[in-house]
Amino acid sequence: MTILLNPGPVVLSDRVRQAMLKPDLCHREQEFIDLQNKIKVDLLNIYQLSADQWASIVFTGSGTSAMEAMMTSLVPAHGKVLIIENGVYGERLSYIAKTHDIDHVVLHHEWGEEIDLTKLKGELQYHEELSHVAVVHHETTTGRLNNIDAVAELCNKHGNIPLLLDAVSSFGAEEIKFDDWNIAACAATANKCLHGVPGTSFVITNREAMTQMSATPARTLYLDLVTYLKLQDSNGTPFTQSIQTFYALAEALDELNDAGGWQDRQKQYWRRMDIVRSGLQKLNIKASLERDETSCVLNSFPLPDGISYEELHDKLKAAGFVIYAGQGGFAKSLFRISCMGDISDSDMDRFIDEMGTIVNS
Ligand SMILES: Cc1ncc(COP(=O)(O)O)c(C=O)c1O
Repeated sequence: MTILLNPGPVVLSDRVRQAMLKPDLCHREQEFIDLQNKIKVDLLNIYQLSADQWASIVFTGSGTSAMEAMMTSLVPAHGKVLIIENGVYGERLSYIAKTHDIDHVVLHHEWGEEIDLTKLKGELQYHEELSHVAVVHHETTTGRLNNIDAVAELCNKHGNIPLLLDAVSSFGAEEIKFDDWNIAACAATANKCLHGVPGTSFVITNREAMTQMSATPARTLYLDLVTYLKLQDSNGTPFTQSIQTFYALAEALDELNDAGGWQDRQKQYWRRMDIVRSGLQKLNIKASLERDETSCVLNSFPLPDGISYEELHDKLKAAGFVIYAGQGGFAKSLFRISCMGDISDSDMDRFIDEMGTIVNS
């Protein structure tokens, strides 16, 4: 079996894979509505969110569709969003805003940099008209887990500005403080820390924020969360959903719950990531970021001396491991390792052994 160490799609458990073989369904029948409702409830339960205050809106698409649905459906016509960039996905939020003509300002950092809180404070003070701040929780470009506690504290202090959070690569394995962080919406997907298959994504929204949006004309047809919420609240769906990926997600959510929820998944990921960090350090490959700056989900590492990414990738793939390249300007200097999915600590030990063989050959 190939061990996927890329940041999703993940190695599926047999349980999740088998779930996709359940009976064919029509998305207008009660059986599908029951499935959709179960997923919606289970998603809220991961972070103990009350269904009176929060809604999970589930639809067919990859993580980017959830980002785009969140940005287009939560920022009102007269709203303005400050977007914090420190990697590919922050920049993607800006691209979405540009594409949909959403009024925005950008607080840019180089990829991998820590969010500059002094600059953020300055932007919040200068742009009193801001309606939202959009930020990535775990910036998968580098593995940096952004300090949302500090971002939210500033946003709360300067105008009580709600957050739009891209939690695509953290939902289900990192802490998300929905109330303390004053989250208006949080975008995520099935095929990363939840261990489902690609094809289903979702946005958890604050119901009050959505009520305000029902008076605003929709920016998109397919990704309009107001329409989804209205229909899903009354046991419907606007469009055909990807039934088999819903089956997989429902099973993956049961599996997460049986295993002890996000806290236990976080511990499991850290155990695996610590094997990788310390094993690679012994091979003189020191993680790009300190442990307390990164997520448990993915870390980035400098390429070993004298070995290109392509050579490393191909040798590891021949040994049964798929790793992930650095993005953009990092393509020639970094590789990334993720520890999501139905893999084991001993897979990580074997990975380190293979790395040792490659580096020392
Ligand atoms: C933080 C983050 N946001 C958004 C995305 C985009 O997700 P997708 O490739 O499923 O569209 C990713 C993908 O890795 C991600 O890591």
